[in-house]
Amino acid sequence: MECDDDHDGVEYLTKFVPLDSDEHVLSDVHINCSSAGGGSNSENVISRFVFTVPNGIRSCNHLDKPNQSASYFDGESTADADDEEDSQVERRDLRREVILIEHTMATVLEDVGTQVWRGALYLCDFILGNPILFAGQTVLELGAGVGLVSALLNYIGSSRTFCTDHSTKALTFCQGNIIRNQFVCLTTKSSAELGPGDAVSVRCLDWFDKSFPKINAAVISPFSWAADDIDVLRRGFVVVAADVIYSDDLTDAFLTTLLRLSEQFRLTVVAYVALEKRLNFTLEDLAVCSPPYRYFQRKLCELSQTIEASTRALLMSERLPDNFPQCFQYERVPELEVWKITATINLN
Ligand SMILES: C[S@@+](CC[C@H](N)C(=O)[O-])C[C@H]1O[C@@H](n2cnc3c(N)ncnc32)[C@H](O)[C@@H]1O
Repeated sequence: MECDDDHDGVEYLTKFVPLDSDEHVLSDVHINCSSAGGGSNSENVISRFVFTVPNGIRSCNHLDKPNQSASYFDGESTADADDEEDSQVERRDLRREVILIEHTMATVLEDVGTQVWRGALYLCDFILGNPILFAGQTVLELGAGVGLVSALLNYIGSSRTFCTDHSTKALTFCQGNIIRNQFVCLTTKSSAELGPGDAVSVRCLDWFDKSFPKINAAVISPFSWAADDIDVLRRGFVVVAADVIYSDDLTDAFLTTLLRLSEQFRLTVVAYVALEKRLNFTLEDLAVCSPPYRYFQRKLCELSQTIEASTRALLMSERLPDNFPQCFQYERVPELEVWKITATINLN
């Protein structure tokens, strides 16, 4: 691994090479993140993720968050001082919100989901720039980590958000973070009581679990799927995922999950996937490159060719333009990308 800096023996995961299982990594998102205090134990912290709200987005929740996530106009304006009307418009553009997220700092690779990664902030920007794709929709987030993206989806008014991960540790953070932002979890409300934009369900979804969406009634956990959840998904959903392309095994499992979801639900599944191409010098290439990214591209190509040959299925992918504004505070490095992946299995 290449390090940006030496920080108490912790390596920043801006560059990515295989790690030993006990090596610690720290997302550089957390280096300058503004703290809102300690978390539920001494290893956790709560960070403030401030974002500007583009014109036209109205939260279903922001008036309900007087203490933690207060909505405000920050009073700054770049408009001509002589033109009061324009000035009002500018101020409205600068409305800001805060999402509070509890997370850990440095972790071993297995627990990277308990930190926030730059891909999540980039995906949040994509969502704020394209709310029409998500508002009023059911959204399934895969590999959600600590739940920042799902919290934002609820904020912009997705009708139902399934915030999923395979790690119980990460899911526990998600549940706390959704409640922390005073968004309503399904654990506290029945489906019949749900209003628009107030339903985030934190659920376990492991990409290696081929039985999903079959419900195993013997497994009782706060993150188990209910029959009702599956019924909601059957009506159609959009997938989002941030920073899940970093290991070849996981890339395989992730892409296979998109195809399996299409097959199981007999739907075309559209996924918006944010990733950060992690560059490092490899001896194999004798150059700076990103092996996980190269594998992702190769796999997309291979899968689409094999699948097309079968005529039963289709996997299409395209890198989307990055012409959406930056609303969250982070370094928008050129290695950040959003991909649209469409999986269709034709069972007829
Ligand atoms: C680098 S973290 C990204 C977390 C979050 N999306 C973000 O960007 O901050 C990768 C996430 O993928 C999850 N993940 C890894 N393997 C998984 C699997 N087999 N099934 C589901 N999620 C998995 C991890 O638990 C972790 O939350």
